[in-house]
Amino acid sequence: MSDSPAILEARDVSRSFGPVEVLHGVEIALRAGEVHALIGENGAGKSTVMKILSGYLEPTTGELLLDGKPVRFSSSEEAEDKGVILIHQEFNLAEQLTVEENIFLGRELKRGIFLDKKRMQTEASRLLSALETRVSPNARVSDISVSDKQMVEIAKALSRNARVLIMDEPTAVLTNREAEVLFRQIERLKASGTAILYTSHKLDEVARIADRVTVFRDGARVAAVKAGEMNEDQMAQAMVGRELSNLFPAKSPMADRKTVLAVRDFDVENIVADASFDLRRGEILGFAGLVGAGRTELMEGLIGVRAARGAVEIDGKKVAISNVKDARRLGLVYLTEDRKGRGLVLTQGMRENLTLLALDRFGRYALDAKAEDAALTKAISEFDVRAPTRDVRVGNLSGGNQQKLLLAKTMLAEPDIVIIDEPTRGIDIGTKQQIYEFIHKLAASGKSVIVISSEMAEIIGLSHRVVVMRSGRITGILQGDDINEDQIVRYAMGLEGRAAA
Ligand SMILES: Nc1ncnc2c1ncn2[C@@H]1O[C@H](COP(=O)(O)OP(=O)(O)OP(=O)(O)O)[C@@H](O)[C@H]1O
Ligand SMILES: [Mg+2]
Repeated sequence: MSDSPAILEARDVSRSFGPVEVLHGVEIALRAGEVHALIGENGAGKSTVMKILSGYLEPTTGELLLDGKPVRFSSSEEAEDKGVILIHQEFNLAEQLTVEENIFLGRELKRGIFLDKKRMQTEASRLLSALETRVSPNARVSDISVSDKQMVEIAKALSRNARVLIMDEPTAVLTNREAEVLFRQIERLKASGTAILYTSHKLDEVARIADRVTVFRDGARVAAVKAGEMNEDQMAQAMVGRELSNLFPAKSPMADRKTVLAVRDFDVENIVADASFDLRRGEILGFAGLVGAGRTELMEGLIGVRAARGAVEIDGKKVAISNVKDARRLGLVYLTEDRKGRGLVLTQGMRENLTLLALDRFGRYALDAKAEDAALTKAISEFDVRAPTRDVRVGNLSGGNQQKLLLAKTMLAEPDIVIIDEPTRGIDIGTKQQIYEFIHKLAASGKSVIVISSEMAEIIGLSHRVVVMRSGRITGILQGDDINEDQIVRYAMGLEGRAAA
């Protein structure tokens, strides 16, 4: 690969927040027609440098060069005008507006002084269909799924004809099929000379699409290589600075075979029908299926946030759960896949977020600040939450550290049954290992865990048994040697099981 000149370059860039320096003199050069991957642990500074390159943040020291000339972006609009576009890690959409309004927000198409509604409709439809999504331009963003939101973010960025397109973990919330569509778009952009900067915790993806890889550790660049000079294992090692042994702990035998949760003929709205399954003490029960199979909706029905019908027993007793509080009282908690939308209050600190669920334990009227503080100390060490300071607003934590905090928050309620939806979305490989170990220990200590995951390796590596869903129905429950990719896919695609009939 010949080195084409850089379109956009960061030279010796540092950035501090208050007294804390989080980026230390980093360098990165983005070249025309190249996919440059930036990898590193949660909190390594990937999003920060991306925001600096795209005008959302200013460097504290160091400089940016655009086409070889020093440049200062005083806002993201200014960067956009020069063709530098960022697709944010956590969405940056206006929830109350429609898909189409979001795509054209701030640069509405006009005819004379009037909005050109028709052209915007046509253009939005064209972009969305190029991305093979079925989301309607008229849908309100608050009503669409997380993966559709990501596709809208991508459509919005594509509509802006970027010279430099910066994507911060675009595939974290996408299905494999959606990711494939995105990769085709990336190939197309690359061929047309766009410079692409890309982050992902999915190293197989990086190995596949990147022409060049830069590795950050603790805010500094520790490696910069051309594709092919580093394999996935080497990438992981460069990121975490240590050798990574087995990702999954050995499956422990179940504590006993006692059923703690029995669900029968369970319907949720008109999405899930006839779901029946048991969860045992000490068990990790995986839920596999394609996105849209109804796994999240089933769990939301169980904890009472969606209308549901059917029988639920906990420890052999019939229970009625009509809201999250009921569920929690019965020892059942659900950890959402949508950490920004529903899991955390981003404008508040870690302490406030942590104790939100367990308020009863910290005194309902007068919050016991000391106990809260102790809970935070414990959470930080137990879950290895890496925060620049203890009073950082949660919105300023790196994505992966938000997820760890959410996990800590869920556990503070001391549940017997934990449902975790996509536990490692956006989580670096070293932290993944810690989270798997944590889930493993939780089950080994006699709790019961349901794990919904789109990552096949995770489902297979963790679960004692695997429930597979398709189109709102449970098509199969696998155990032992049947827990393999081939079987899971067959049931998920409807080639096997009920849906095949
Ligand atoms: N506005 C802010 N105020 C204070 N600290 C911040 C702010 N933004 C980011 N940080 C801190 O800077 C560090 C780098 O964060 P950054 O979001 O760049 O990490 P990342 O590499 O993108 O991680 P992840 O993989 O989890 O997304 C973290 O310690 C983060 O908490
Ligand atoms: Mg990030």
